[in-house]
Amino acid sequence: MLASKRILLIIGGGIAAYKSLDLIRRLRERGASVTPVLTRAGTEFVTPLSVSALCGQKVFQDLFDLTDEAEMGHIELSRSADLIVVAPATADLMAKMVNGHASDLASTLLLATDTPVLIAPAMNVRMWQHLATQRNIETLLADGIAFVGPNEGDMACGEYGPGRMSEPLEIVSAIEAQLANGPLRGKKMLVTSGPTHEPIDPVRYIANRSSGAQGTAIAKALSALGAEVVFVSGPADVPAPSGVQVVPVGSARDMLAAVQRALPVDAAVFAAAVADWRVASASETKLKKSQNGLPKLEFQENPDILAPISHLNRDRPELVIGFAAETDDVVAHATAKRDRKGCDWIVANDVRPETGIMGGSENDVTLITKDGAEDWPRMSKDAVAKRLADRIAAALT
Ligand code: C5P
Repeated sequence: MLASKRILLIIGGGIAAYKSLDLIRRLRERGASVTPVLTRAGTEFVTPLSVSALCGQKVFQDLFDLTDEAEMGHIELSRSADLIVVAPATADLMAKMVNGHASDLASTLLLATDTPVLIAPAMNVRMWQHLATQRNIETLLADGIAFVGPNEGDMACGEYGPGRMSEPLEIVSAIEAQLANGPLRGKKMLVTSGPTHEPIDPVRYIANRSSGAQGTAIAKALSALGAEVVFVSGPADVPAPSGVQVVPVGSARDMLAAVQRALPVDAAVFAAAVADWRVASASETKLKKSQNGLPKLEFQENPDILAPISHLNRDRPELVIGFAAETDDVVAHATAKRDRKGCDWIVANDVRPETGIMGGSENDVTLITKDGAEDWPRMSKDAVAKRLADRIAAALT
């Protein structure tokens, strides 16, 4: 899939740089050529010799080397690739990109380029969560920079949280998605997925049985057609897809805020099983058993996410797709829901327990559009996703 693709790989200075050596191997075994640039800080973590040996070519390190007539100039180096990948992208490199610095070879290439850029951030969790970095992320996204990761987990510094660089194969998938020459290239898609968790107190919550499998499959299928995907997911059972921008959320209100931040998009697929109600005043402390009887939970309606996006005047996605999980009279209820919510299409499914759909690997859907109801045969959730992605591509192009 990457045969004859040219990747310019900028390796920043972070402990995750060791994974970039494996990334080079994975890219080359898929037929890509990798031209390496190593920052000065990067040389503290991996050696120029290992990088150039794995790439099978010279490693570029110094801005002023390139001013020599005999060398490739930085403009040419920055533009001769199909994709620039920054892995690891440190907090410092990201800040330089935001501010347009040209203080070393890596930042100069990133400023001089007109080639798409994909970054794989890696840093300490507090650095990632710092407001300065969060502001920089917003700016880079607005500038059209694509992200892969970071993942959440144990960090080399002994802390836990978001900031771990994505694994080499996740970065490869993101690169493949960036270079995919599919019909959705250049289109931005939003997918919501999974259940939401509505807190009762700090340790208890109300949820539903959604696994996130169908939403995840849709995000993957759209990405495989070349779309840039923002994937807003509640706490799901299945792992989030790689190669898409993952925005993890907890409650329905968090999901609404994340969806609003992701706009504008060309199309939005609302596959999440959003809780309709939340506990009106969730307790700040754990509720205790008491002699005075059972706790009285009062419910309040959650905001709808799909309907206000469907009714936007400015920034309404060209195509808005909702889901309808029903247990009876599926088509009638889903058709009424399409009108009520104002979306273009509804993907309706029967989630009675005996269908095995909720939490299972197959789905049996009816696509409802303004032209009527179209019954699809029962198939895997991946196949439903592929078919839906193809329909979206046909509708948008
Ligand atoms: O729960 P309901 O059957 O009404 O969900 C229909 C559609 O509306 C789904 O696409 C779901 O993601 C969306 N929804 C929403 N916000 C809610 C409830 C549902 O966007 N609060």
